[in-house]
Amino acid sequence: MQEEGSAILVIDAGTTSNRAMVFAPDGTVRALAQRPLTQHYPQPGRVEHDALEIWQGVLACARQAVAQAGGVDRIAAIGIANQRETVVAWDKASGAPLSRAIVWQDRRTAPACEVLRAAEREADVQAATGLILDPYFSATKMAWLLENVPEVKAAAGAGRLALGTVESWLLYKLTGGAHLSDASNASRTSLLPLAGADWDQGLCGLFGVPRGALPEICDCAGDIGMALPAWLGAPVPVTGMAGDQQAATIGQSCLAMGETKATYGTGAFVLANMGTQVPSSRHRLLATVLWQLGGERVYALEGSVFVAGSLVQWLRDSLGLIDAAAETEALARSVPDSGGVVIVPALSGLGAPHWRADARASITGLTFASTRAHLARAALETMAMQTRDLAEAFAADGATWTTLRIDGGMSANSWMAQDLADVLALPVERPDFVETTALGAGMLAGLGAGLFASLEEAGTEMGGARHTFTPAMPDAVRAARISGWERALETV
Ligand code: G3P
Repeated sequence: MQEEGSAILVIDAGTTSNRAMVFAPDGTVRALAQRPLTQHYPQPGRVEHDALEIWQGVLACARQAVAQAGGVDRIAAIGIANQRETVVAWDKASGAPLSRAIVWQDRRTAPACEVLRAAEREADVQAATGLILDPYFSATKMAWLLENVPEVKAAAGAGRLALGTVESWLLYKLTGGAHLSDASNASRTSLLPLAGADWDQGLCGLFGVPRGALPEICDCAGDIGMALPAWLGAPVPVTGMAGDQQAATIGQSCLAMGETKATYGTGAFVLANMGTQVPSSRHRLLATVLWQLGGERVYALEGSVFVAGSLVQWLRDSLGLIDAAAETEALARSVPDSGGVVIVPALSGLGAPHWRADARASITGLTFASTRAHLARAALETMAMQTRDLAEAFAADGATWTTLRIDGGMSANSWMAQDLADVLALPVERPDFVETTALGAGMLAGLGAGLFASLEEAGTEMGGARHTFTPAMPDAVRAARISGWERALETV
């Protein structure tokens, strides 16, 4: 395949940073640019982003990556992957945000979810959307903005309100006005039935979201929009779009039923490909759209864990226990075990499969013999323990894992990868190239631009080698770890 004019620019708008990467069609990375994103914590339980900072950061990264890759003439298409559920409200006339974006981690709508749960609406919502009632999802955040931000309310009254998740906001800015959301992102709002093509009026009414402010729902690949020439120096088509966890599942080539990946970033997100039939969970997992192509959907079961890499960041930034996240690997290896220290990292409640918005984190088992090495090891051990809780729920839902493919920034920690294999008693596979979110968005964009005939072909062309971690932990050690974790869980 020709290099000239066939590279793919991927925008990955994540929770803590915005990035842009340029891929050659064989998966080689030609350029990478990254900018951190400011986190605003105005009150306990609230997490906000500045939507303009997201857009400006994305644009700056995209420009830098395109320049590094040799200019816009090299770029055939743009793919977008994004932090999901985070809600942006903007003015359709001016294109300006009307408030700060409410981030997926934000818990302010827990009372609204409680009201709906008390009214016994959870079963209906879950049956239709695959999602439970939790402040994690977009609909209650949208309603909160309408009720509490006068500018949002006024724009709604004047018919100028646009609501969307982050891909929708970025596409609007890139194209100068297209208001679209791909089905994988739309399925995270609580407003899209898994089996329905469009937003559901009943769900919009239940959550108090005006349907007219929502984007149009589109496929994850195809002619999605055209980026204005002002941004990159020439018009470039946007041909791929997906939520970052769905993109990572595609980037891990989990393209066949049963194939499962876990991404360890800010949080940890496990998705299993469940094929074309709408799945339903009886064990507090989520059902979600994995991708939509030609109007046809493939679905996933998902376990969302809210705190993974952010626990290590907290040890670094709030406790000052380490200088850099990478230190945790050597610290964990420097002790034979955690010395009885167990961390339950419910720093923003507990997600799947527990769904306890009210839970607070704990550190138990401390003695005078406890050192920062024990704490670092206990922090890393929570990754395997939380993943193991999900493995049980997936198995109970009939989606038993045979191997687990891991990725995300934290997966570079080989101690953690081996601990996962040990605790899950499963082979754990780590690709040599762990930027699977960007790779998946690149595969979708390549497919949408006609560079590949199918996702399978895109995976074969762009994917790379993997390393396997094989379980080696004695059963008694595993059993003791699990019972220690379960005891600690009961206390939060
Ligand atoms: O559902 C939230 C998820 O999309 C966030 O992903 O990688 O930005 O932490 P990340």
